[in-house]
Amino acid sequence: MRRLISIADLTNEEIEEIFSLADEAEQLRAARPASGQIMATLFYEPSTRTRLSFESAMQRLGGSVISCSDMKSSSTAKGETVADTAKVVSSYADVLVVRHNWDGAVQAMAEHADVPIINAGDGGHEHPTQTLCDLYTLRKEKGELKGLTVVVCGDLKNGRTIHSLVFALARFGAHVVTLAASGMELPQYVIERLEREYGYGLAPVASNDLSAVVKETDALYLTPKQPHQLALFTQVDEIIQARLNTMASGLRYDAFYMTRKQKERIKEGTNDASYPTIGAAFLREQRFQDTVVMHPLPRVDELSQEVDKDRRGIYFKQAAYGVPVRMALLKFLFDRQETLPRSRGAAISYESPEAIGPQCRNPNCITSKEPLSAPKRFELFAIGESGSVVLGCKYCDHRFKVQYVGNVAAKRYGSYDYTLASNLKEWLKKGELAIFDSIKEAEELGYEPFKSGPQRVLMGEAEIKQALAEMSGRILSDCRDADRLLILGVRSVGSQLAQRLAMEITNQRQRRPELGEIDIYGNEELRRLNPADPDIGPLNLKDREVILVDDVIYTGRTVQSALSIIFRSGRPQSVRLAVLIDRGHREVPMRPNYVAKNIPSSETDRVRVKLCGLDQEERDQVVMYSLIPVAGSQPSAAAGNEKTAVK
Ligand code: CP
Repeated sequence: MRRLISIADLTNEEIEEIFSLADEAEQLRAARPASGQIMATLFYEPSTRTRLSFESAMQRLGGSVISCSDMKSSSTAKGETVADTAKVVSSYADVLVVRHNWDGAVQAMAEHADVPIINAGDGGHEHPTQTLCDLYTLRKEKGELKGLTVVVCGDLKNGRTIHSLVFALARFGAHVVTLAASGMELPQYVIERLEREYGYGLAPVASNDLSAVVKETDALYLTPKQPHQLALFTQVDEIIQARLNTMASGLRYDAFYMTRKQKERIKEGTNDASYPTIGAAFLREQRFQDTVVMHPLPRVDELSQEVDKDRRGIYFKQAAYGVPVRMALLKFLFDRQETLPRSRGAAISYESPEAIGPQCRNPNCITSKEPLSAPKRFELFAIGESGSVVLGCKYCDHRFKVQYVGNVAAKRYGSYDYTLASNLKEWLKKGELAIFDSIKEAEELGYEPFKSGPQRVLMGEAEIKQALAEMSGRILSDCRDADRLLILGVRSVGSQLAQRLAMEITNQRQRRPELGEIDIYGNEELRRLNPADPDIGPLNLKDREVILVDDVIYTGRTVQSALSIIFRSGRPQSVRLAVLIDRGHREVPMRPNYVAKNIPSSETDRVRVKLCGLDQEERDQVVMYSLIPVAGSQPSAAAGNEKTAVK
């Protein structure tokens, strides 16, 4: 029998097969194909629909169910790991259905169980069987899934049903409009997977199109085979131009998929912003006449009861389909003996050969919560293809950029850049690739820095200070309304520079501008640095004059990723770019507005902005150097022609 952890574990054809079986649920019930089989339900989080519909489905198939009424009264309360629980219960049942509050917990349990597991929702990660119910309902209502436009609305960040659903919709060729509550946008790892695996691109939606649902809409349209259309803007006029060029207006909306705010996954008081709702206004809008309203339920107050009586409200039908769809799924899985691995495109598996290695940045990941049950395993993406090397956690799918790499045999380490791409491939093949989150980790293991040629100091402490003061003056004089200024640094050196710029602006203006940070590959994508008061809520980008700050611009890809996060998190009036060093090479059409120094430099040069306090630097300086090629596994200074985000 097969397991089901992610919606990616099923092909489109298999999903169609499950739907055909669901259409014949009554015949299945009569045939009792699960007679003699036992299903165990382990729900570490509350549930009504998923648990009861699974239990009903198993009984209707002739099987039986064992369960623990509350996992808090199981040996979990005594400290038993999920790994041990899975191992033990799999000797009592033929299939486990598990819901857990940690991302990736079901994957970890599947690695320890001797029988197949079905994911009934793991933290904020995935909920594949809900997606099967959603697709089945949509297909029943609308016929073909291909070409439909589905608006997903609400808490897109923490809503696991949404993550599985958007992947499935993309696979079936539907279009997705994301209408996120403020601060609850679709996570970057989901967007990237949509782009990488399904060729989906983003475009903004005309704001009046969805105004019946929320007043200030920041909707994005995910659609196949479009170029990556995020506006790469640095000036006000260009923003308007770009927005007009890429605006998706007058869309026909086939379904509105509403979700509740996932309060259990949000720290109290960190997001009290207004939440979109569906009610009478939505029902009156002409453009929504044929738009069905879906909701995975339970609802709280985002979906008015007025919609219950309307023909378009189909969420109770959606919940009812839980039984035939899960009967069909169980029958389908019982009939499959093989265990197929999930298809993850061209990713390479990575496990650190050292005792200290990279840690998934998602604090709710099983690898952080219970490392005994889940060793740190990753997928490694994009060596030499698109710039940075990125690790994706095998349990929760969160992604982060590789910062420091080392060679186990040579016991040398350094910060990663594209000239190491071919070395990395070689080291990976030989099992010699070490990855570290910090210099401290590498040095604790006795690693020494890669040997490099003499450093040329490009800027000293005084010059950096002077440059930041000049930039601040120019930023203030270009600014239309200094109260709308938002200084946003790209983590981590860009973020430090942003703090210094903000300090200079404060000195010149006697008022502190708001300050934020973008973490391109971390968990927090956009967060406020100052003021730090959590009651203020998430950063609001609407109508702001954003100054995006980074240390070095070379290919421009880092800035492009930062812009895409800004663009889908709100609608600033303008975004201007400030960098300390412009290396004069560009793969994407963008030009920084504020540059301290232009240093045309070759691919084999390294430019590093070293700031006092970061990575134990003693003073600020910008240096340029090249690595010395030496025998063995030392990095080659002339390695590769890959076009990447080297700085
Ligand atoms: N849709 C859903 O997962 O509902 P329950 O939490 O009630 O199972």
